[in-house]
Amino acid sequence: MNSNIPVLKVENLKKSYSGRIILDGVNLEVDKGETKVILGPSGVGKSTLLRCINMLTLPDSGKIWLEGVELTNPNTDINKMRQKIGFVFQDFNLFHHLTVLKNVTIGLTKVKKIPEEEAIKIAASALEKVHIPNTLWNKYPAQISGGEKQRVAIARALAMKPSIMLYDEPTSALDPQLVGEVLQVIKELSTAGMTSLIVTHELHFALEVANELLFIYNGKIVEQGPPEEVFANPKHDMVKKYIASIYSRKG
Ligand SMILES: Nc1ncnc2c1ncn2[C@@H]1O[C@H](COP(=O)(O)OP(=O)(O)OP(=O)(O)O)[C@@H](O)[C@H]1O
Ligand SMILES: [Mg+2]
Repeated sequence: MNSNIPVLKVENLKKSYSGRIILDGVNLEVDKGETKVILGPSGVGKSTLLRCINMLTLPDSGKIWLEGVELTNPNTDINKMRQKIGFVFQDFNLFHHLTVLKNVTIGLTKVKKIPEEEAIKIAASALEKVHIPNTLWNKYPAQISGGEKQRVAIARALAMKPSIMLYDEPTSALDPQLVGEVLQVIKELSTAGMTSLIVTHELHFALEVANELLFIYNGKIVEQGPPEEVFANPKHDMVKKYIASIYSRKG
């Protein structure tokens, strides 16, 4: 791959629901090894943007490229390209009838057709990266904590060796005492060079992990920049209010 090509490029992305404009021309790029964090009030279209990037939701117009391949081109094999995008959902989306280990190996054996024995090795390495000990490998999702579930979901995505990880509020369904362990794992992965695009309301985490913050409002990215700069000197009124509201909520 040409290293000058961004891992992800989104150009003039638009999406409406029932005539209501949600995304109104979003542009963004994520380069290899970068972590960008998307912020913005509830309902502004953050999840819609991530879902469009993965083509789980079809954009109305605009273009999306992953490593130079246009996902929005109808001739692109989207199922194949989707394997390169790790998606982590707020509510984990684990398979409840499968063990921890099987949750991680299933994509490898069924989608990538990797033999079971090799899949287990890859899964073991992914589970190690998210600090899930092998004593939990044979447990079912109902038998582990929310923080462990989310770390297994991250391992499942990682095992597919994605070009980018997309996280949609990965800690907002967790009890407060479990948030830290998940953020720590995401931070370790980012620091180790995993290209990432993260939707979160965890501002301290965003400050630590992001190369750049992107604020969405009224369908557009209204402010973007290095976290220290944006936090120190927010320009847009929404961004000022948003930062103040999060800090007042957390005390
Ligand atoms: N499938 C859908 N059909 C119709 N409207 C939808 C659909 N999905 C999302 N919306 C609407 O689009 C808007 C943006 O939703 P989205 O979930 O992307 O917001 P968000 O920024 O992720 O919010 P939150 O912070 O609460 O997760 C909302 O008003 C939502 O109700
Ligand atoms: Mg959302």
